Amino acid sequence: MSNVTMDKIVNLCKSRGIIFQGSEIYGGMGNTWDYGPVGVEIKNNIKRAWWKRFVQEDPSTYGVDAAILMNPRVWDASGHTQNFADPKMDCKSCKQRFRADNLIEDHSKGTVSAEAMTNEEMEKYISDNKINCPHCGNFNWTPIRQFKLMFETSRGTLDGEKDVVYLRPETCQGEYVNFLNIQRSMRAKVPFAIAQIGKSFRNEITPGNFIFRTIEFEQMELQKFCRDSESFSIYEDYKAKAKQFLVDLGFSEDHLKYHDHDKLAFYAKAACDIFYLFPMGWSELNGIHHRSTHDLSRHQEYSGKAMQYLDPVTNEKFIPTVIEYSIGADRLMLAVLTEAYNEEVLEGGDTRVVLKFHPAIAPYKVAILPLQKNINEKAIELYQKLSKKFMCIYDESGSIGKRYRRQDEIGVPYSVTIDFDTLENDTVTIRDRDTMEQIRIPMSEVESYIEQRIQFN
Ligand code: GAP
Repeated sequence: MSNVTMDKIVNLCKSRGIIFQGSEIYGGMGNTWDYGPVGVEIKNNIKRAWWKRFVQEDPSTYGVDAAILMNPRVWDASGHTQNFADPKMDCKSCKQRFRADNLIEDHSKGTVSAEAMTNEEMEKYISDNKINCPHCGNFNWTPIRQFKLMFETSRGTLDGEKDVVYLRPETCQGEYVNFLNIQRSMRAKVPFAIAQIGKSFRNEITPGNFIFRTIEFEQMELQKFCRDSESFSIYEDYKAKAKQFLVDLGFSEDHLKYHDHDKLAFYAKAACDIFYLFPMGWSELNGIHHRSTHDLSRHQEYSGKAMQYLDPVTNEKFIPTVIEYSIGADRLMLAVLTEAYNEEVLEGGDTRVVLKFHPAIAPYKVAILPLQKNINEKAIELYQKLSKKFMCIYDESGSIGKRYRRQDEIGVPYSVTIDFDTLENDTVTIRDRDTMEQIRIPMSEVESYIEQRIQFN
């Protein structure tokens, strides 16, 4: 992550087809972003790596894809209809709205946590530290007000009548409400987990920071249902697994830290975030929460269905405890881009920008570059063969140096050049993105050469 700033990441994302402002031709829509052809590949690869690690490789975890629109009683049971709100302050000068806790955390570059502060304490901190409006620079705040975070929509039932439904603000409720379905249909034995990747929606008002906090985002969430006696060791296990996943994706341990919550929800027995050193400072990347039996107990109370597990050996009946591990796919995307971003000064004095992704995350695994257009037949043949196996990119325009730079900027780990020797002896050069070294191998070996190097294990 050499010389990285948020502006550099945003500009690279726009110019290289990674992420664009949502509804841009209409002047944009705050806190919405559209993934371009390169970005969608990176994000899909992030989701695939997570699913592989936490679902595919764990026989006690079951995947689901639950509905976004849920019975509104779900949100009464979860407490969202009553309590899901943010402390907001408006700048009276420029009329922009901010989260008071974000103002404090951004001002202190993540060194002060507002998590345990009351509204009065946050107002005092902002006043004592003279935190000005990040938009216009004035100090002219309204008092803090609670701002509801759930998006409402309506469902027509009878002519002229509408029922309110909510866009889910988190995916995990789809896991809780399917606890009995999964346990019975899959004959799952406690401890087991239900995992899901899907869109969530929150009416967030934030001071930018690109895709860090948006109103529509994807979550990758997993709920482990267990006995209370084993819950703390499972909690510690997920803390370790969540961090190891990031390290295996290529994150430096120096850029990650555990942050135990100062203040716990009344039902929670422990909670920890993993913080990452984002361009704007240390901020939450994911959370691991010990949620006691709260979630299933509440759904039992509100649905009237017994959310109990019958132990087949001891015949004991109990409501399982939940350990939750939750991470945003878009937030992880921002962290991955930050971590991968490097500026390197080359021998002739030029600077190259290179995204040093783990090859499993790279949008394309290989670039196929004919040295000249008039020898492109073999290059097209190779593209057609390799693109059946993985994402490839074909580029025949511009000097070979410029084409390498373009691949570096979107993190393509290997570039294959087809030159005049290829026509003679069917060999090609493969260039490594990170070392820039080139080797010559038979064209028939390219597929296995790349396949061996792009796995996420
Ligand atoms: N079910 C628990 C839950 O939703 P959370 O801490 O509110 O907990 C979990 O969210 C993760 O989802 C966060 O650590 C973050 O990675 C991601 N996330 C939450 N709100 C987000 C937003 N507005 N934009 C992008 N990612 C978000």
